[in-house]
Amino acid sequence: MFYIKSIKLNNFRCYKEFSLEFSPKINIIIGDNAVGKTCLLEAIYALSLTKSHRTSNDNDLIMKNEEYCFVKGSFFNDKDEVVTFSLSEKGKQIVKNEKKVARLSKYIGYYNVVMFCPEDVELINGAPTSKRRFLDINIGQINPLYVDSLSKYKKLLKERNQLLKDLSESGSFNNELLAVITNQLITEAKIIIKYREEFIEKINLFFKDQVKAISLGKEEALIKYKPSCTVEEIEKEFRSKEKLDLITKTTNSGPHRDDFAIQYNDLESEFASQGQQKTFALGLKLALIDILKEKSNKIIVMLDDVFGELDINRQKQIIKMIEMDYQIFITTTSINHLDSEVLKSSNIIKIERCSE
Ligand SMILES: Nc1ncnc2c1ncn2[C@@H]1O[C@H](COP(=O)(O)OP(=O)(O)OP(=O)(O)O)[C@@H](O)[C@H]1O
Ligand SMILES: [Mg+2]
Repeated sequence: MFYIKSIKLNNFRCYKEFSLEFSPKINIIIGDNAVGKTCLLEAIYALSLTKSHRTSNDNDLIMKNEEYCFVKGSFFNDKDEVVTFSLSEKGKQIVKNEKKVARLSKYIGYYNVVMFCPEDVELINGAPTSKRRFLDINIGQINPLYVDSLSKYKKLLKERNQLLKDLSESGSFNNELLAVITNQLITEAKIIIKYREEFIEKINLFFKDQVKAISLGKEEALIKYKPSCTVEEIEKEFRSKEKLDLITKTTNSGPHRDDFAIQYNDLESEFASQGQQKTFALGLKLALIDILKEKSNKIIVMLDDVFGELDINRQKQIIKMIEMDYQIFITTTSINHLDSEVLKSSNIIKIERCSE
């Protein structure tokens, strides 16, 4: 049995100082707009994945005009455990059971988090950036080596783009350093592409079934990986784009340009209706739970502002699918749209405002 027992926040977003206790099963957090419901889920998310689900800028997590933030989570993991996440200008730190974690990549995904939020439809029809973020966070939850390769790749990409700029400004086109960095970049790119291929192949096995179940057999859909270039062709691709890279002073191919698309009924998701988009988004997250649970049972599921939007049948269906083993957090502004059975078995937490 794994769950978060309580949380303590310090200078985290709108919370100056705040603590809360949770139930091991369903927790429903109710409060008006802007009282700090999403911030609360974000803090639980950051305790595991060491980052926010809604921003890539860590500093946003620190309360305005403050210098650090701190989150402490008390867990039950067959025994009591404590994890703290802190952030300041010195960087990010995770302390688990009083021991500082030396490498975050080894810690990320220590417990798994799946967050359902209104922005999920961006995974169906949004910009490739959101889709790559989905891949990166979730493959990273499963494979620490992916996190390592990705951070090396990002660093090398920055170096390569800077070098392209320097070279094109100095007018010299034959550079050994460029070849060295390109080769290193390709090495990491191949690892990233392989992991992404594997992940998408795997999630498809579950995604197909989830979409069928949610749509009561009406929809069939698959995720199609659209890599900027394949492992087999990446060397050729980089060679053929080198001139263009120098002219545009940027790297035009590679995993940082990858994308994926949802295909249904021989169509791509740009044609999907709003209802279909929601079905696919929900299916994607449920499929993610299916994948994560193969790895571990330490999963926390969060439904930020999406549950009350579902009809009662779907609410029941979702709870049935995830309730068995996992602690669940649901946020909502109103209790009225929630299924009474779900309400009965839930711990209701009312939030009036961020700080007391
Ligand atoms: N770094 C920060 N410093 C101070 N306040 C912040 C910071 N980041 C966000 N806030 C504030 O925190 C408040 C709560 O935001 P949050 O997104 O958690 O609201 P919410 O309860 O989820 O609302 P909604 O129901 O509209 O989704 C907002 O008023 C926001 O402006
Ligand atoms: Mg919110």
